[in-house]
Amino acid sequence: MRTSSGEFRTYLEERRGVVDAALERFLCAVPERPERLVAAMRYSVFGGGKRLRPILALSAFDAVGGEGDAVLAPACATELIHTYSLIHDDLPAMDDDDTRRGRPSCHVAFDEATAILAGDALLPLAFEIVAREGGLRPSVRAEIIGELASANGVRGMVAGQQADMDGEGSEATVDAVELIHIRKTARPLRASVIVGALAGGAPAPVLDALSDFGDAMGLAFQIADDLLDETGTAGEMGKAVGKDRQRGKLTYPAAAGIEGARRRAAELVETALGALETFDDRGWALREIARFVVERRS
Ligand code: IPE
Ligand code: IPE
Ligand code: MG
Ligand code: MG
Ligand code: MG
Repeated sequence: MRTSSGEFRTYLEERRGVVDAALERFLCAVPERPERLVAAMRYSVFGGGKRLRPILALSAFDAVGGEGDAVLAPACATELIHTYSLIHDDLPAMDDDDTRRGRPSCHVAFDEATAILAGDALLPLAFEIVAREGGLRPSVRAEIIGELASANGVRGMVAGQQADMDGEGSEATVDAVELIHIRKTARPLRASVIVGALAGGAPAPVLDALSDFGDAMGLAFQIADDLLDETGTAGEMGKAVGKDRQRGKLTYPAAAGIEGARRRAAELVETALGALETFDDRGWALREIARFVVERRS
């Protein structure tokens, strides 16, 4: 069994390289103009980032025995959608954050209108590459598009973002926080796993197990993000910290305290690992990622 954290760090770096090269290929194919729009899209996509969502897709593809490179388009689609969500999340009308991935946020580096439009352009680009790239069977392609759409719209991320904004300043209960976190963060993270598994040809029972994995890992990820906003450093995070408390956000630490949040995150990691019980050594990277989401400092 491979478990060394050094090996996992190397794995993350290698996968990040694969993802960045594929993103470069997809972004190179967009028109050169309007120059300002394309520059803002590239600025945000290539401005750092852990690439966790596409790496999850690649890891799930490997875990289900996928072969070839048909996973690259869906994997990159998850990162394009994620990047759009970050650009909009940082806007003055939303979280009003000036720093992202260690650099000025898109609306600071460019302007608000350009940032809105860069996000608007990244979202359909994600669907375009899944619709057009070769290597996926038509039925699988349709399922991947459906999964990405439902995880990121009114059933998922956008709904969670609305609830997050509506909740500012209200009483933080665990139920209210989980409802937000599941939709704004866990659904897109789960979708990253599912689209990788779909591309790899996973049958329904395997998809069910990975869905349980994604739900638990995804919620743990957002609890860790909340904790890092309280206990992390801006230098490590590449974004401002202490902002959630300042804005009266409904966070897990606000609802359950720092220790309560840590306990819940640890419990969710165990749930995520349990969901992978039937996977052999090919589930190694997914197991490592489940631990990583709560141990990370950035
Ligand atoms: C930040 O996601 C937004 C949340 C859902 C908490 P990441 O922490 O994965 O951000 P990047 O992609 O590495 O910048
Ligand atoms: C954002 O959550 C989740 C998204 C859907 C983008 P946060 O607002 O906590 O993310 P950060 O802390 O700004 O990265
Ligand atoms: Mg937010
Ligand atoms: Mg934010
Ligand atoms: Mg946050």
